[in-house]
Amino acid sequence: LHEAPDILSAEFAENPYPHYRIMRDEHPLIWHEGMQSYLISRYDDVEKAFRDPVFTSDNYDWQLEPVHGRTILQMNGREHATHRALVSSAFRGNELETKFLPVIERNSRELIDGLRDRNPVDLVEHFATRFPINVIVDMLGLPKSDHDKFHQWYTSIMAFLSNLTQDPDVMAEGMRTKEEFASYLIPIIRQRRQNPGDDLLSTLCAAEIDGEHMSDEEIKAFCSLLLTAGGETTDKAIASLMKNLLEHPDQLEAVRADRSLIGAAFAETLRFSPPVHMIMRQPSEDVELSGGVVPAGSTVTCLIGAAGRDEQHYANPETFDIFRDDLSTTKAFSAAADHLAFCLGRHFCVGAMLAKTEIEVGVDMLLDAMPTVRFADGAPAEAGVFTRAPTQLWIDRTPA
Ligand code: HEM
Repeated sequence: LHEAPDILSAEFAENPYPHYRIMRDEHPLIWHEGMQSYLISRYDDVEKAFRDPVFTSDNYDWQLEPVHGRTILQMNGREHATHRALVSSAFRGNELETKFLPVIERNSRELIDGLRDRNPVDLVEHFATRFPINVIVDMLGLPKSDHDKFHQWYTSIMAFLSNLTQDPDVMAEGMRTKEEFASYLIPIIRQRRQNPGDDLLSTLCAAEIDGEHMSDEEIKAFCSLLLTAGGETTDKAIASLMKNLLEHPDQLEAVRADRSLIGAAFAETLRFSPPVHMIMRQPSEDVELSGGVVPAGSTVTCLIGAAGRDEQHYANPETFDIFRDDLSTTKAFSAAADHLAFCLGRHFCVGAMLAKTEIEVGVDMLLDAMPTVRFADGAPAEAGVFTRAPTQLWIDRTPA
């Protein structure tokens, strides 16, 4: 028997996956004193915490409120349903295809053009971290000259949210960002109400359900959420997907030859190395999970990265394989997804289709721009416990 792994230890940060295995096998329910939270790691338990309405998002308030304000992530029940309906239509179907596909293509093309004269190049710095934020700024109808400002805000909000040890400097910086973001965006929201355009910000101003609209403050909070929910995640998904393919050259060549496989490479990346490793929930009554009973009102940390490698759920879970038949790529983007990286149930990722489209366009263009490609300096290390991906991805395009 092993001791229960400490999720905040250096060994864990180095490589969480062997520790996740010990948790699933021997310690499926751990109380973590430092985090004041229970940790769950088995697929079935995490799925239950996402789907069962006994698990609320109440405990997000103190984590997210100081940096975002009130967002749909913190809401439950009817309030959540109404606010979710107000924002979600902008992120699917026709709206996505007609308005945002050209935005995604334009922003991907611009960044890839900028890679042309760089070799070797760090794909994280010059593509992955820029692309999703640039897309959001453009979707909101805000100027390109503000890209760097958004990039800075996003970095500071992410530092705040990943601050598991509660460093006071990082907290203060996150709260300053909240003020700065509000003084930038609220006047623009007011202008869009007067002079609406064909952009996401104007759509959010006009959205109405049963006579309810979003206030300036609510729209600002939602846009702030988009930076992290849509930026950090997609950024890390691109970096991990490219790393996984470069580590498996046969699968890289298969995707290069048949670009319709990008969807499978994305879905398998979300199972094998998800961008978000932890989601918090709070049960409103005592709940039985496989490791015991979790008391009402406590915080439960759902370990998505552990659930994706659960051998009770997937065959050969430690192998990256875009051809595996237990991961349906069509189901992967519906509420019945077989991986948990987008969550499930009421808080299922609003931007899943947007993320999939960004990945399909971005990876397709990257492969075109790199007829030959390999790691410039060996496989890069991954970092992060709350969210996780390679922090750098140096590639070399010189033909062998
Ligand atoms: C919710 C993951 C891309 C917007 C979520 C949640 C997860 C997630 C795990 C649930 C969070 C929770 O309940 O605590 C991801 C991943 C992405 C991605 C892995 C990329 C690979 C995006 C994009 C956007 C977006 C591109 C929009 C620009 C949102 C929003 C929510 C959400 C608004 C809140 C939904 C709600 O509370 O009802 N996402 N996301 N996400 N995501 Fe994403």
